Amino acid sequence: MLAAKKQYVEWYENDSLHQTRWLSESGHKPPTRIVLVDDTTTADEAYRLACAGTSMLWRGDFHNGRQLLQALNRRIDRAEARAKLRQEKKAANKSNIKPDNQALPNLFHQQRQMTAQRSRLLSRLLLELDADYSSQLRRAPEVSTACVAAFGSLNEPCLLSFRDLQGALGAAGWREKGVPITGLELSIYPHYGVFAPTRHEYVQLLLDAPLPEACDVAYDIGTGTGLLAIVLAKRGVQQIIATDVNPRALACASDNLTQQQLTNVQLQQADLFPKNAPPADLIVCNPPWLPTKPSSPLEYAVYDYNSLMLRGFLQGVKAHLSEQGEVWLILSDLAEHLQLRTRDELLGWFADNDLAVKYRLDTKPKHGRSQDHTDPLYAARSAEITSLWCLQPA
Ligand SMILES: C[S@@+](CC[C@H](N)C(=O)[O-])C[C@H]1O[C@@H](n2cnc3c(N)ncnc32)[C@H](O)[C@@H]1O
Repeated sequence: MLAAKKQYVEWYENDSLHQTRWLSESGHKPPTRIVLVDDTTTADEAYRLACAGTSMLWRGDFHNGRQLLQALNRRIDRAEARAKLRQEKKAANKSNIKPDNQALPNLFHQQRQMTAQRSRLLSRLLLELDADYSSQLRRAPEVSTACVAAFGSLNEPCLLSFRDLQGALGAAGWREKGVPITGLELSIYPHYGVFAPTRHEYVQLLLDAPLPEACDVAYDIGTGTGLLAIVLAKRGVQQIIATDVNPRALACASDNLTQQQLTNVQLQQADLFPKNAPPADLIVCNPPWLPTKPSSPLEYAVYDYNSLMLRGFLQGVKAHLSEQGEVWLILSDLAEHLQLRTRDELLGWFADNDLAVKYRLDTKPKHGRSQDHTDPLYAARSAEITSLWCLQPA
């Protein structure tokens, strides 16, 4: 589960050099400059240090540390609001000169840069955990269970960011509480680092699409929590083979299948298609929807750089289908509204791989962000349609 390469960080404390394992699921490099901070450190001071690239090892009360993280967050909010105002003024001055065709993609990339910058700054507040992930900080809660579930056993002390710890605690909450799936009367329990189907309007598309006449064998490519394999099993498909590249996803899917008492789904770690599997009457795939570069391993389920997975799937899928087999590709058109991909490009990839569209089912997302008028990407998000493309060899 853990990255193979171990990294260590060093800092001076009580006149001696300390060295500890570095743990960063967000993909941040080990900090080279670390100062000690505690309850006497003000939020402004901490913000200045973070902006200057200095990491801070928290030695105060655990809850005060969490509050400091929130205070840093608020300062970043304010800095972003100021930057937005400056940009709006600049845009207003330019607007009567020429229309900007790149406005939406630029805005999208700017937003991602801002998110990455926020992540970098917040990840500069660190804490130390013992070999069993317990914390010696005053009033520290039990965090070991969430850390073992998220990061696996380390068996040595580590330094990580409060932010990554919050991520592990949040994931433990989801894993315990589950995500109720509309239309299925069941909950899915996502693990840390696995695509959580909190917005899952596409499930209804899978429930509405008519199964191929003969549908004994199906594949679910990029199964994540196992959700789509479960939908197919509930619809009566006898044998399902589900793949994912992410070992965490396979462990998560396995738990969800056990929870649903389903024994007819085999899981395989594979890049796209399963090995040694019979031809499929139905192949479903819900690839990451946005064709841009993931900025950390945790983003691989959301971003598909250069549409590598999507194009690989379309190139290979025909060879795995039975004679009358069908493909159900789940894809949102958000990338099209953000001008990161065109509809013609997508249709071109279908045609290049001898795949004809048999039918398409559409749904309109109702999640909060699609209705948030203050979101700079509102125009794109509110126009988004999620589709099930039923494809067959031409
Ligand atoms: C958007 S998530 C969909 C998860 C799940 N099928 C669902 O609908 O909720 C995409 C999934 O594809 C997986 N994935 C990405 N590239 C892959 C590849 N080349 N082969 C197999 N799985 C891949 C990711 O790990 C992730 O679990």
